[in-house]
Amino acid sequence: MKTWTDKEKKRTLSIYDHHELRQLHDRIAQSVWREKFHIQTVTGLMNDPNGFCFFDGKWHLFYQWFPFGAVHGLKHWYHVESEDLMTWENKGLAMKPDLLYDNQGCYSGSALIEDGTLYLAYTGNNKDVFGKRHPYQVLAWLNEKGEYEKLDHPLIGQLEDYTEHVRDPKLFRHNGRYYILLGAQDKEEHGKFLLFSSEELKQGWKMEGELKVRGYDHFGYMVECPDLEKVGDDWVLLFSPQGLEAEGELYNCKYNNVYFVGKMDFENLEFVPEGPFRELDRGFDFYAAQCAMQEEYPDTAVLVGWFGCGDYTYPITDEEGWAGLQTLPRELTVENGRLLQKPARSLVNLRGRKLFEARNGSIVSDSMHGLMPRTAIMRLDDPENESIQLNLFARSRKNGFAISYDKFRRKLVFDKGDLINQCNEEFGTSRTITLEDGLKSLEIYLDRSSVEVFVNDGEYVVSARIFPTAEENLIRMGGKNIDLVIYDTNTTVEDSFVI
Ligand code: FRU
Repeated sequence: MKTWTDKEKKRTLSIYDHHELRQLHDRIAQSVWREKFHIQTVTGLMNDPNGFCFFDGKWHLFYQWFPFGAVHGLKHWYHVESEDLMTWENKGLAMKPDLLYDNQGCYSGSALIEDGTLYLAYTGNNKDVFGKRHPYQVLAWLNEKGEYEKLDHPLIGQLEDYTEHVRDPKLFRHNGRYYILLGAQDKEEHGKFLLFSSEELKQGWKMEGELKVRGYDHFGYMVECPDLEKVGDDWVLLFSPQGLEAEGELYNCKYNNVYFVGKMDFENLEFVPEGPFRELDRGFDFYAAQCAMQEEYPDTAVLVGWFGCGDYTYPITDEEGWAGLQTLPRELTVENGRLLQKPARSLVNLRGRKLFEARNGSIVSDSMHGLMPRTAIMRLDDPENESIQLNLFARSRKNGFAISYDKFRRKLVFDKGDLINQCNEEFGTSRTITLEDGLKSLEIYLDRSSVEVFVNDGEYVVSARIFPTAEENLIRMGGKNIDLVIYDTNTTVEDSFVI
């Protein structure tokens, strides 16, 4: 495994790097783990989604990007674009560290469309000559020449009462005012939310104070990537707290991404939750999710998450020189105080040819003959809440990625422990969800190195990066009276080299 020197990690992209990166891209494009329908890094490492929005008739997503290899080096913003949230095109570099304020990385942030202009608020990660970090909240916009222009002064500077960990601005407008919500750590090392507001976008920002969440003093030791969205009549506060302790079935990843549904009281700087916070994903690899600004679908929010997690490594693709995906976009609605997360509506068009069909437990058609396709969309309906067993990428006596439901204990279990290639096993190789109302359906999206399972039409989602080998080529399925259809998939992300 390559060890990266500090100097190598601090490299900024320049036009002279084109040839080197093209070679890197051409090499990784050969990888059997490159995806067919997920946004994947063009080269190097991708982490959080940033600046997700609908602008000028298209969906725009940016991601945290270190171009030169699979390591968390100096962060740039890379841009991808889509007309339908299904087909994505690589657009190239959006922003790189070139200000004093962002000399050690253009960190995460969000988008706002104002008077036909796309604005981006992000954290400039500055370090001084002594290596001390100073976070600044910076504004940029897409100018008429199609360039990303940065404001020469930060909107928000350093804050005395907080540590150096203050970041990830969520910029939004409410009742005619502009707001920025930040994740922060106070001097007692508690995770907090900070709210700022201004009459104008480019100046006049003042701190309103900490945004309190009724019933809670703080969240772990740091809050990252906060987001606040109106979904129908409810407000949803989404965030990535660091330092939550695992509690049985819950919070088993190194870092976990959670949400509250409730009411937002801007006057009293208080979020009033309707229930406890819940995980956005109950799987293995999901963090720092962000919703698109609600221009296109006002009644629902569209969410994308980083298909990974801070401090995780994925040795098999790290070796190849790349790391990271984004999850499929999910549409959010609120029902009974909880989020329902469904694959974005356009994703029905991902389905290709039907490969397998069973109705009421009996096979109707089968062109797979027990062999596991490398990509597939599987829809299982379990109208009678029977026990099921699905072994994906199995081999003799090994269960591969196993999904099982026990109708007596009402436990749905995802187990990746039998796969040959393992990653981040120290955070567990299985996840369990107790389904109070039983199992009704599973919709499974399998791409070449990932699996996402939507349980009971969005009641839960389970995401996992998996790296099955050629010899893990069997599928085994069992379940009385179930309906199961397996489709081939279309290719909707072109693995093109654009920087
Ligand atoms: C979350 C995060 C953000 C930060 C970014 C840096 O994964 O740590 O808080 O802005 O990544 O890449």
